[in-house]
Amino acid sequence: MGTAVITGASAGLGAEFAQQLAAKGLDLILVARRRDKLEDVGQAVNAAYPQVSVTLIEGDLSKTETPAAIADSISATGVAVHYLVNNAGATGPRMLEDQEVGWSAHQAYLTLMMTSITELCHRLIPTMQAAGYGRVINVASVAGRIPRAGDSHYGPTKAYVIALSEALALTVKGQGVNVSALCPGFTHTDFHATAGMLDMKQSMPSLLWYGAEEVVRDGIRGVEKGQAVVVSGRLYRWLHPFMQSVWTRRLFKG
Ligand SMILES: NC(=O)c1ccc[n+]([C@@H]2O[C@H](COP(=O)([O-])OP(=O)(O)OC[C@H]3O[C@@H](n4cnc5c(N)ncnc54)[C@H](OP(=O)(O)O)[C@@H]3O)[C@@H](O)[C@H]2O)c1
Repeated sequence: MGTAVITGASAGLGAEFAQQLAAKGLDLILVARRRDKLEDVGQAVNAAYPQVSVTLIEGDLSKTETPAAIADSISATGVAVHYLVNNAGATGPRMLEDQEVGWSAHQAYLTLMMTSITELCHRLIPTMQAAGYGRVINVASVAGRIPRAGDSHYGPTKAYVIALSEALALTVKGQGVNVSALCPGFTHTDFHATAGMLDMKQSMPSLLWYGAEEVVRDGIRGVEKGQAVVVSGRLYRWLHPFMQSVWTRRLFKG
């Protein structure tokens, strides 16, 4: 069936991608910083799908050298990758307020959220083009569609991921390679706990929240259909056309 690389596979959406792509018979290369969590995900996958080969790569994608190291270790094994899920991500420092961390922390965040994704596409998509088959899911967010005050890194990085995916989808059109930006809304994962945002999460209506299983299913289905932008969740699909209208922008001005 082939091999899938999944970044940010130690938790949340990435761990769910591992399960759903293993169910399709793909071998897995799982990337994240926390080896113990990657091992847990790998063991859970192998318990359900013993025939699937799982390789773990520890890597920090906020470091500029990591995508090349990942690509090198894949090519050393001789495995051809035909499925890439650029999923690793987090909230980061606030662009203006968080001065004390120094520019290098901001730079590292932009590397994680944009440069590493771009470099993995740059390094891995040509093999897919040569094979005439490939699937790439870049996990963005509906936050990439709505400019918000105080959110000055996260939303713009996700807007970049959407734009990158749309441009790549057009570039490889007709070559058997599908590229999608997956745009979830609020999703139950570790994301908000890691960011210290559990109070915010608990104060929000439950109808805004979706499960990781549904988001990942939407992403896999969307890339198979060749959709360049996949908005997950019925509510967010309905809201999506309004998100960039001048009226919606007024709502988010404060
Ligand atoms: N949850 C939501 O509401 C939501 C909504 C829209 C979009 N998203 C996007 O969905 C993607 C997955 O997030 P999630 O919700 O599944 O969050 P999560 O449960 O916190 O998982 C984040 C994953 O990213 C990895 N990661 C973070 N920083 C990394 C780094 N520097 N290098 C390598 N891996 C790193 C983490 O692994 P390690 O810590 O082990 O490195 C973890 O596996 C992100 O791109 C996020 O922006 C989430």
